[in-house]
Amino acid sequence: MTSFGFIGAGNMAGAIVRGAVAAGSSPTDIVVTDVDPAAGERLAAELGVRVAASNQDVVETCDFVVLAVKPQVLPAVVGELREVFADNRPVVVSIAAGQTIARIEELLPPGLAVIRVMPNVNAMIGQGMAAVCGNARATEDQVARVVELFSAVGQAIELPEKHFSLFTALAGSGPAFTFSFIEALASAAVNHGLPKPLAVRVAAQTVLGSAGLVLDRAESGGTPATLRDMVSSPGGTTIAGLLAADDAGLSPAVVRAVDAAVARDRDLGAM
Ligand SMILES: NC(=O)c1ccc[n+]([C@@H]2O[C@H](COP(=O)([O-])OP(=O)(O)OC[C@H]3O[C@@H](n4cnc5c(N)ncnc54)[C@H](OP(=O)(O)O)[C@@H]3O)[C@@H](O)[C@H]2O)c1
Repeated sequence: MTSFGFIGAGNMAGAIVRGAVAAGSSPTDIVVTDVDPAAGERLAAELGVRVAASNQDVVETCDFVVLAVKPQVLPAVVGELREVFADNRPVVVSIAAGQTIARIEELLPPGLAVIRVMPNVNAMIGQGMAAVCGNARATEDQVARVVELFSAVGQAIELPEKHFSLFTALAGSGPAFTFSFIEALASAAVNHGLPKPLAVRVAAQTVLGSAGLVLDRAESGGTPATLRDMVSSPGGTTIAGLLAADDAGLSPAVVRAVDAAVARDRDLGAM
């Protein structure tokens, strides 16, 4: 069996490991380690995965090493392990936001398979959206294994790295845009007299169901626009609301939010 080792047992690693075990991966094929031993121990107690003695232990014993630390500490973590990576040559999987494959390759000894993944926060409830891209050394099978790993916590797609800034804006920042939309819907409802918790629940369930309907109808060629037309009765409430939203600039505001996030990701990547 393929073994996956996680350096960093924080929010994202915890979500992926929980998803992988729930999807049928054997806990004994998963190894975790963290600078805070209690973080690894918690996952071990919950799921039965192994806690490694050190980051070095993970690199020495696992086929795939998932770098799940914050981007700021990544260079130091990988730098310390350079020789161990050179000796053991696992597939290196990075989930660090904004860190390109070229950047990860620079930190590592030459010639290793590197797979970059951009997951999103919704992986925490098994509804994530992740993009996966391998370097020239990564085989199709290795990339497929990583797609499979992230499919355990939502959907995962292969995507050329040139689209990662856009993907980061759409799927990485997209949840925050959606949270703002839900908050705005709920605030409007509060303004009309609904208690806030109820307003948030109704707004969130409406967004959840609408997203589900979009995905369901996409299979038969439906689009968000056709669904919007379907619910906009002539002279009705929905078209009145949509025209008011257009007038207030809802679509351009969303486009600008994505554009700004793409630009920011490219700026950060260039630094
Ligand atoms: N969370 C998301 O929604 C999300 C989305 C996309 C991408 N990502 C990427 O996922 C990665 C992890 O993010 P996260 O949100 O899971 O962060 P996190 O919760 O802070 O997890 C990182 C873990 O790594 C530990 N750590 C720090 N230095 C270490 C070292 N030298 N050796 C081993 N472990 C060490 C941290 O311990 P301490 O807390 O004690 O420092 C922490 O437990 C980041 O690169 C981020 O860009 C996250």
